[in-house]
Amino acid sequence: MTPAHAEALRRLRGAWGRMDGRTALVTGATRGIGLETAVRLAGLGAEVLVHGRDEGRGAAALAAVRAASAPGAAPAVYTADLSTRAGAHRLADAVLGDRPTLDVLVANAGVYSARRVETADGLELTFAVNVVAPLLLAVRLLPALRAAAPSRIVILSSASHWTGELDWDDLQLAAPGAYDALRAYDRSKLAVLMLTLALARRLEGSGVSAGCLDPGDVATTMLAAGWPDLQGISVEDGAVTSVYLASAPEAEGLSGVYFEAGAAVTPLAAALHVDDQERLWAEVEAVAGSLGL
Ligand SMILES: NC(=O)c1ccc[n+]([C@@H]2O[C@H](COP(=O)([O-])OP(=O)(O)OC[C@H]3O[C@@H](n4cnc5c(N)ncnc54)[C@H](OP(=O)(O)O)[C@@H]3O)[C@@H](O)[C@H]2O)c1
Repeated sequence: MTPAHAEALRRLRGAWGRMDGRTALVTGATRGIGLETAVRLAGLGAEVLVHGRDEGRGAAALAAVRAASAPGAAPAVYTADLSTRAGAHRLADAVLGDRPTLDVLVANAGVYSARRVETADGLELTFAVNVVAPLLLAVRLLPALRAAAPSRIVILSSASHWTGELDWDDLQLAAPGAYDALRAYDRSKLAVLMLTLALARRLEGSGVSAGCLDPGDVATTMLAAGWPDLQGISVEDGAVTSVYLASAPEAEGLSGVYFEAGAAVTPLAAALHVDDQERLWAEVEAVAGSLGL
């Protein structure tokens, strides 16, 4: 990490705010950046809803979050596989059933897949988990987020988006020889960045903000699988920006932003094309059903 990056993260950490009385859902909170984010938000006073796809890992994450929570807080765990639309809907239904209000959604769950895997819905796994699920979940949870406004949607994109390219004719990388793990991952993080900007535009004036971020190269299971030569910063540092966007008083209302290396930066020019953002939104609706927004 460069000294400038370290200094920027120190500043963001110093700007974190108390979360007492607020509820935050963190997806993919069973390890890595998501687990650290959930624990930190609990430490700031939030009632954290931990999401995992595996019951055992979810229970372990809940125990860690409970240990960091204030005495009165009642953290909870939700189990759902976000590779399918049904899984995302199940998670949204369960949270909406339990909570009339949600102050923060951190859409953190993500995957890097060495091989092309097709989900039960017939989608390429990386696209399903990293692109469709965060958007579907954010839109489904809007009733609770609107009820808690000012509220925040924080989505994990990546600096990998800089090398992402959308092939409109083959978004699922189904053509023979088209699949490459990095190609799938980079494009998924470009796509989710574009959709975050499209979501923020739709939410203007609603009191619900939507922003996204790169956490840095963080030493997690994912980094070891996809980028074994990179050392990675600690998860403590990797979670700083997520916690900042979720909690900092100065970040309230900050919408349509992309953070990298601890600061808001202009992303890849291709991500800013509104026509392409809208085209992508329509592509997601074509596979996930109308988002009604
Ligand atoms: N690490 C980095 O350097 C880096 C850089 C840029 C962006 N990011 C992004 O940051 C986020 C967190 O990454 P990480 O490095 O912390 O990864 P990680 O350690 O591999 O954790 C990923 C999390 O997502 C969950 N997940 C994966 N597939 C899922 C599915 N089908 N349904 C539900 N949950 C699923 C995992 O659950 P299990 O525990 O069950 O596997 C885990 O909780 C991701 O969106 C990633 O793309 C990471």
